[in-house]
Amino acid sequence: MSSAIAPSADARQLCVVVPTFNERDNVAKLLAKLQAALTGVSWEVIFVDDNSPDGTWDVVRQLAQADTRVRCIRRIGRRGLSGACIEGILASSAPYVAVMDADLQHDETQLPKMLGLLQGGEADLVVGSRYVSGGSADSFDRQRLGGSMFATSIAKRLLHIDIADPMSGFFMVRRDRFEQLAPSLSIQGFKILLDLVATAQGALRIVEVPYTFGSRLHGESKLDSLVVMDFLGLVLAKLTRDLVSLRFLLFAMIGSLGLAVHLVTLYVALNAFNEPFAEAQAVAAFVAMTFNFLLNNRLTYRDQRLKGFALLRGLVIFYLVCSIGLLANVGVAFSLYGQRALWWLAGAAGALMGVVWNYAVSSLFVWRAR
Ligand code: GDD
Ligand code: MN
Repeated sequence: MSSAIAPSADARQLCVVVPTFNERDNVAKLLAKLQAALTGVSWEVIFVDDNSPDGTWDVVRQLAQADTRVRCIRRIGRRGLSGACIEGILASSAPYVAVMDADLQHDETQLPKMLGLLQGGEADLVVGSRYVSGGSADSFDRQRLGGSMFATSIAKRLLHIDIADPMSGFFMVRRDRFEQLAPSLSIQGFKILLDLVATAQGALRIVEVPYTFGSRLHGESKLDSLVVMDFLGLVLAKLTRDLVSLRFLLFAMIGSLGLAVHLVTLYVALNAFNEPFAEAQAVAAFVAMTFNFLLNNRLTYRDQRLKGFALLRGLVIFYLVCSIGLLANVGVAFSLYGQRALWWLAGAAGALMGVVWNYAVSSLFVWRAR
C-alpha cells in the first residue's frame, strides 16, 4: 500500500515494549536508563501491564505524566508474557520495535546499536544474545543455565533454528515484518522470540548482538517449572506447522500426566489402603481429574485463570465434561475393537476421542476460550 501522507519530522523511530507484572520498583529506573541510552533517537516506550496487584500500571501512568514518550497498556483479566509483547508491538506505529524486560536484566545500552543494524538494512531482526562471544548469562545459577542451554539445543535441532540464543527475551525487529507474522504467533507462553523465528522459517535476516544478562533489580522472576511444558508445547506446535494448536497440545500433555497420576493413585489405593477395585478406580479418577483441572487452569488457560467461586464452578463442570469424555472414549474404543481386534489401535483412538472431546467442551464451558 502506498500513501501520499509524508511522515512527520518527529515521527518516532523506535518503540521499546516492556511487559510488566509486579515491577513497580523497577519501571522508573528502567525509564531513566532508556532516557540516557537513547539520546539522539526519536523513541517511545510502551509498558504492557497485566493489571499487576502491586499497581505497576499506576506508577507507569505517573511517569507518563512527566514524559509523553511513555505509554501504558493495562490489560484486565489476561496474563501472559508473549501476548503482552504482541499487543504492545502492535500498539505502536514506529518502524522499529524492541522488546525488553522491566527488571534491568537486559542491557539497554545495546539499543542504539541494534537500531543502527535495522536502519542500515543489514537485518530484519536483531537479537540480544547471551550465547555469542562477548555475551554471557553470569547471573544464572547452574540449574537455570543448564535448562536454558538444553532448551536451546532442542529448539535448534527440532526446529532448525540457527541462532545462538533463541530463548532470549531481548530483541528488536522491523515492525512491518512483525505485522506479517503476528497472526501466526501464539499469545501464550514465554518464548515469543523462539516463536517468531520458528514461524518465519528463515524469512527473517537475523543478526545477534552480544550482551550480558544481568541480575534482577527488584521483585522476582515469573518463570516457574511450568515454563518447561510451555516450551515443549511450542516446539510441538511448530513441528506440526501449527496444525495442532499450542493450547490443545498443552491440554493433551497434561492429560497424559493425568493418566500417570491416575495409575499411581490407583496403585496406592489398592495396595496401601486395600480398597476394593471399583472404589480405588473412582478415587483415582477424581484425583486425576482434579489434577488435570488445576494444571490446565495454571498453564493451558493461564491467560484466563479461574479463581475463587469460578474455580469451584469450573471444577464441577470439568468433572461432568470428563465423565462424558470417558464414555466417548470407551464407546469409540469398543466399536473399533469390534471391527478389528487391534487392542492398541482401539485404545489409542478411544483416548484421542476422549481428549478431543474434553478439550473442545471444556474450552466452551469451563474456560470459554477464544
Ligand atoms: N504483562 C506481563 N504479563 N508481563 C509479564 C508476565 C505476564 O504474564 N510474566 C512476566 N512478565 C514480565 C516481567 O515483569 C518482566 O518484565 C519480563 O516479563 C520477564 O519476566 P521475568 O519473570 O523477569 O523472566 P526471567 O527473567 O525469568 O526470564 C527472562 O529471560 C529469559 C531468558 O533466560 C525473559 O525475558 C524470558 O522470556 C527469557 O526467555
Ligand atoms: Mn527477569
